[in-house]
Order: sequence, then structure tokens, then C-alpha cells
Amino acid sequence: MSARVDLYDGAYSNYAAEVYRQVRLETYGEDFGQTSWVTTEESGNIPQLLALRSDSMVLELGCGSGGYALHVAENLDCIILGLDINESGVRNANQLAVTRNLAPRVRFEQCDISAGIPSEDNAFEAVFSNDVLCHLPARLNVLREIFRVLKPSGRLLFSDALVIGGMVSHQEIAARSSIGYYVFSPPGENERLIESAVFRLLRALDTTENATRIAKIWHQAREKSKPELIALEGDGNFEGLQRFLLCVNTLTAERRLLRYLYVMAKPDQNVS
Ligand SMILES: C[S@@+](CC[C@H](N)C(=O)[O-])C[C@H]1O[C@@H](n2cnc3c(N)ncnc32)[C@H](O)[C@@H]1O
Repeated sequence: MSARVDLYDGAYSNYAAEVYRQVRLETYGEDFGQTSWVTTEESGNIPQLLALRSDSMVLELGCGSGGYALHVAENLDCIILGLDINESGVRNANQLAVTRNLAPRVRFEQCDISAGIPSEDNAFEAVFSNDVLCHLPARLNVLREIFRVLKPSGRLLFSDALVIGGMVSHQEIAARSSIGYYVFSPPGENERLIESAVFRLLRALDTTENATRIAKIWHQAREKSKPELIALEGDGNFEGLQRFLLCVNTLTAERRLLRYLYVMAKPDQNVS
């Protein structure tokens, strides 16, 4: 079985290290501090899919190091709250907000989203979450909690990189899950839960190819900087992360694991 491998602590605490910046640039093309399967093209489509406007109140669940929320706020003049359980990620995000003169319009809080969202009802025009909900138990409760904090007509976008598409062995499930707690979903389950939470599903996009591509380039970029990364991560963790990335690449290329992006709206109270 695969031993536990660290991805997020290392990525966020070494955010400013040149080798990590270089790997992100090679992997994604544009550096938002990503640790997900979101291509830069997908990142570029998110504001439009969420119908964001200047002054929109926006919530990002699982904001990581904060780079993407800051990019959106800078370009669209939104007000953004980012939540993440990782202390180093949230610290980095708040530091970047200050450095870029975006605080307090953009701020970040450490929070375990599975325990609830620290917000009043009907607070946000939009909520987004890139490759995070698969880390949380009780997805229907999470969706209901997001529904609660969204304003009527507000939109939610989330991606799920763990939709089962075919046969997966226990060794592959162990390697794919080596970086933390994960929930794998059968096809159609997200759509069913979205409906149960009373959202109106607007789009369900198959973005499996994005995960295949990112995993492959990320693996190659890390391999090129192996000595520098081993110095920061240690040998065992370096190899563990490489196995994780290869596993994602293989499972998605063979479509045994699928990634979907869902966009939905909270119905307007006046519309039955
Ligand atoms: C795949 S990363 C995505 C980060 C960022 N959205 C991106 O696109 O790069 C998943 C993120 O979810 C966060 N996370 C995992 N479990 C969480 C929880 N229970 N509450 C809040 N954040 C969580 C991790 O710390 C990590 O930053």
C-alpha cells in the first residue's frame, strides 16, 4: 500500500522557493500557486461561468495559497473570502493580499469546510471550489451549506476529479489517495446530490483531459528539478508525489477516473 505523501504543506510553505515557482510555471503556463488540475484556460473561464461582476461578493472554498482568488479580485474588482484548512496556505494567501494591496477586499481564513462555512445566510453572489469537494465527507451537507450562504440566483462552480469511470485496483486507489482523505464518486452521483440540494444544474463539463495533461507536465517539470526538490521535500516524499502524479495521469488517460466541472445556480426565490 502507498505510504502517506505530503503535497499541500510542502507546496504552500515553499510557495516562494524559485524551484516551486518554476515547476508551477512549466505546469500551468501562468503561476497562481496552483495545486490542482485546473488548466490556465479553465481558470480563465471561471469568472464568466460564475457570471462575476465588479463588486461581486465571492467565496472560494479550498483557496490553497490564494493566488487565483487574488488574480480574480485584481482583474474584476470583486470582494473575495478564501477558506482553506491548510495553515501555510492561508498565511501565504494573506501575505500576498497585503503585498498586492488587495487586503482587506480579499482575505483568507483557516477553516475546515466540512465543519460548516463561517458566514451568514445569503452572503455571496458566487462560490467556487477547484478540486476540493473530493477531500470532504458528506457532500450533500457541504452542498446544502453552500446553498445557505449563496444569495438567490447566485452561482456555484466546483470540480470533482474523482468520478469513477472504470475498473480501479486497490493499489491504484491507495496511490491516488496517498496525499490525503478522498471520496470517490460513482457517475451521476454529483448530479443527484446537486438536485437534492435544490440547485439548478447549468453545466456539467467533462474536464478529464485537463487532469491527464496537468499530471503529465507536472511530473515532468518536477523530474527536471529533482535534486532541488529532494533537498526541500526529502527523497521519500519526492518519489511518493511522482508516483501520485503518474497514477493520476494513467487513470485519467485511460478514463478509469474522470474529472467533471459543475456549474449551478441557487433558484431565485420569486421563480417557482
Ligand atoms: C487540490 S487542492 C486545490 C487548491 C486550489 N483550489 C487550487 O486550485 O490550486 C485542495 C485544497 O483543499 C484544501 N482542503 C482539503 N480539505 C479541506 C477541508 N476539510 N477544509 C478546507 N480546505 C480543505 C487543501 O488544503 C488544498 O488547499
